[in-house]
Amino acid sequence: MSRMKAIVKQSASPHDFDLMEVPIPGISENELLVRVKAIGVGIHDGYFLPNDIHYPYPIGIEAAGIIEKTGQNVTDFQAGDEVVFVSSMQKKGGTWAEYAVVAANSLILPIPNGMSFAEAAAIPVAGNTALKALHALDLKPNDSLFIAGASGAIGTFAIQLAADMGCTVAGSASKRNQDYMRSLGATKTVDYHDADWQEQIKQWMPGGVDAALAIQPDTGQPSMEILKDDGRVVAVSGDQLTPQRNVAIKPFPYQVDVTDELLQLMKKINSKEIKLFIEQTYPFQQALDALEKTGTRHARGKLVITAP
Ligand SMILES: NC(=O)c1ccc[n+]([C@@H]2O[C@H](COP(=O)([O-])OP(=O)(O)OC[C@H]3O[C@@H](n4cnc5c(N)ncnc54)[C@H](OP(=O)(O)O)[C@@H]3O)[C@@H](O)[C@H]2O)c1
Repeated sequence: MSRMKAIVKQSASPHDFDLMEVPIPGISENELLVRVKAIGVGIHDGYFLPNDIHYPYPIGIEAAGIIEKTGQNVTDFQAGDEVVFVSSMQKKGGTWAEYAVVAANSLILPIPNGMSFAEAAAIPVAGNTALKALHALDLKPNDSLFIAGASGAIGTFAIQLAADMGCTVAGSASKRNQDYMRSLGATKTVDYHDADWQEQIKQWMPGGVDAALAIQPDTGQPSMEILKDDGRVVAVSGDQLTPQRNVAIKPFPYQVDVTDELLQLMKKINSKEIKLFIEQTYPFQQALDALEKTGTRHARGKLVITAP
């Protein structure tokens, strides 16, 4: 067999996605070929593409599957290993396909015994981002943390990880997600549609919160206003923040290695100490529906696609 099904971007035009058959990519000595079993979905899948893209290009950056073969320089993994991985900017194509090429130096982790491919695929990008963002905020037990956009993929982990560290957590989302955020460990929740949501946080934490994690675009600046004078903020969606008072604007720490913490997170999810919430699992034929849903920025937890 030399061809595979894939969800591809067909041209530079923004919404030009389709399911089609493309050649199975070959691997070099420092790459692995993974038979994809489940795919994690995120809004970035539609636009996180290599600069030197060749169309049609299979999209996607995270997945779980079984290693089909390895290049001759790859020693850490072998055919048959069950892994979850992040493969971004891979010019041979992404993860929304039957097979994906992964560079051996990518984030590749073994799937814990008993964890399904769908569960594993839902973890790496959101887990990695939540861990790095919390790292940037240098949280201590008893710190108060506000998370803007706390009911999505990153927020679902961030609430639980921060609460686990002994922090007091507040989160924002719309009405339908208030109970959900509380079920994850948020002690205060607000609806960002309420004109007075910042007042509500200030009443809950007079003087302001110690730290803020702004997940959704344009939530960074409003989050800064509910911080203490010397609070800390990190934004994961590229918000350009205007300094105010003595608030520390923390850059997102792309280079920090959180692999060990990510492995711990996977273990805790596997042992049900930390909840994973997959709002919907889509069959591969309906992958474009998953792309549309993630684009609304109103999914709860994570969306996953099962491979063909
Ligand atoms: N820096 C990095 O390495 C990195 C990595 C991955 C992702 N990202 C960025 O992170 C963002 C995606 O995060 P995610 O995957 O967690 O998102 P997501 O799963 O799509 O989040 C969806 C949730 O956000 C809530 N929401 C939407 N707009 C909101 C707002 N204005 N205020 C508060 N809550 C809001 C929604 O709740 P309701 O339905 O109740 O409104 C929904 O439950 C993207 O912008 C992406 O670029 C950055």
